[in-house]
Amino acid sequence: MAEKSSNESKEQKLVGLLAQFDDPETLVHACNEARESGYIKMDAYSPFPVHGIDPAIGIKRSILPLIVLSIALGAVVLGMGLQLYANGQDTAWPFPGYKFLISGKPIFSIPANIPVTFEIIVLSSAFATFFGMWILNKLPRLSNPLHRVSRFKRVTNDKFFLLLESADEKFNRSGSESQLKGWGAVSIDEVNQDLTDNELPKWLTTVGILGAILLMLPPAAIFSQWGQTNRHPRLHVVPDMDWQHKSKTQTVAANLSNELDGVRMMYNDLRSARRPVDGAIALGSLDIDSELNYGIKSDFAYTITSGGNALTGVAGSQGEKKEDTGAITVPAEQENIEKYVTTFPENFELTQEVLDRGQQRFEIYCAACHGYAGAGNGLVNQRAMALAATGGATWTSARSLHDVDVKDDAKNPVGRIYDTITNGRNNMGPYKAQIPVNDRWAIVAYVKALQETGIQSDTPVVEDK
Ligand code: HEC
Repeated sequence: MAEKSSNESKEQKLVGLLAQFDDPETLVHACNEARESGYIKMDAYSPFPVHGIDPAIGIKRSILPLIVLSIALGAVVLGMGLQLYANGQDTAWPFPGYKFLISGKPIFSIPANIPVTFEIIVLSSAFATFFGMWILNKLPRLSNPLHRVSRFKRVTNDKFFLLLESADEKFNRSGSESQLKGWGAVSIDEVNQDLTDNELPKWLTTVGILGAILLMLPPAAIFSQWGQTNRHPRLHVVPDMDWQHKSKTQTVAANLSNELDGVRMMYNDLRSARRPVDGAIALGSLDIDSELNYGIKSDFAYTITSGGNALTGVAGSQGEKKEDTGAITVPAEQENIEKYVTTFPENFELTQEVLDRGQQRFEIYCAACHGYAGAGNGLVNQRAMALAATGGATWTSARSLHDVDVKDDAKNPVGRIYDTITNGRNNMGPYKAQIPVNDRWAIVAYVKALQETGIQSDTPVVEDK
């Protein structure tokens, strides 16, 4: 008999006594009595919130707000610090930050860094609240011995319970029971915990371990590819139009077998598209005005030699358009200054407005290299020269537009400046794709005006207006 009871006490542990009450008033009364007679480890259960129950069982204010507050203050330091580290200095070890100058604003200032800090506060406070609540409530909890008491089921319905825990110093199996009776308990149950039944089922452990391993696979896959190059195309989950059968515009196929649903994808000459009909001109591309479009006198007769072939024609016909003749380029020594117009074309009207436009376009397209005053010292140029000095780059300086040869109307008539912008010259690239014809002439006008002033300093001149 004695053996059996010791066996039982090994498997079952008394958690406490659960007393049932019929109404909230008796429950609060019993709680007050229990607290006053010195019980500390107890808890009350009811189907709805009962006024006054917290002080009755001696529950103090939650420390959760303090936890959240301290995490949030930490987030302020983290958010500000991260930005200071990344953008506000450039000496930190081991990864130097990068001082990021935006429109001349201070490198670091509190107002500009509020949004990121605010977001980090919100995020970390939310996490602190959520997980703090779990930890304070000792969650997650997979089972609770109270659920073994069948009477307890009515706690979500119409009954009220008080649990005196056996861990309490005041607790005494028979003494506590009679006390509870005295406080108005309708019935009293022992709450026992099954000690043998305390382990997770084996299959759950296995599933848990397998799940954890599977979860590690994606990060492992990403990590293994870190900093790797790969010659295979990326995985196409959504193929979009990447894999459709198509012939690229104006490509020439190697053979006629490129088919889609049995339809051949190109013409008999292996091209995927037809060339423009000879003599056809796309809308808006009629550029027979040689002076306006090329800066070349319309009656200028020329000869271009390329290889053994000589091409003769009149300016304005296809021959003069370097970009369209493909193989034929004009050798530098053959350049004939005579062909360029020396005055602005008839169809270009020079007004103050146009000149202002020229200045604006110049400052967008040219100043980066040539400088605002055209002295050849733009920011790009300065940077490239600095790099070149350390051997980090090779660079030809943008020419000063105040250079005697560039200024000289005889050596560099307006038509030639226009041509420089249109087709580029030597190391300077062409701008015909970016700048429309009229803007190019406006820039030429502004360049002439710049040269006229002779001012070569980029320091802005304050205007009296
Ligand atoms: C990317 C830098 C860069 C930009 C932008 C640039 N240039 Fe130039 N430019 C140069 C360089 C470099 C040269 C000298 C080319 C050489 O002689 O090799 C040059 C030369 C010139 C010359 C003298 C050409 C000659 O030899 O007669 C003129 C005129 C000129 N640029 C005008 C302009 C104008 C107008 C613009 C704006 C539309 C412009 N450039 C934009 C780099 C630039």
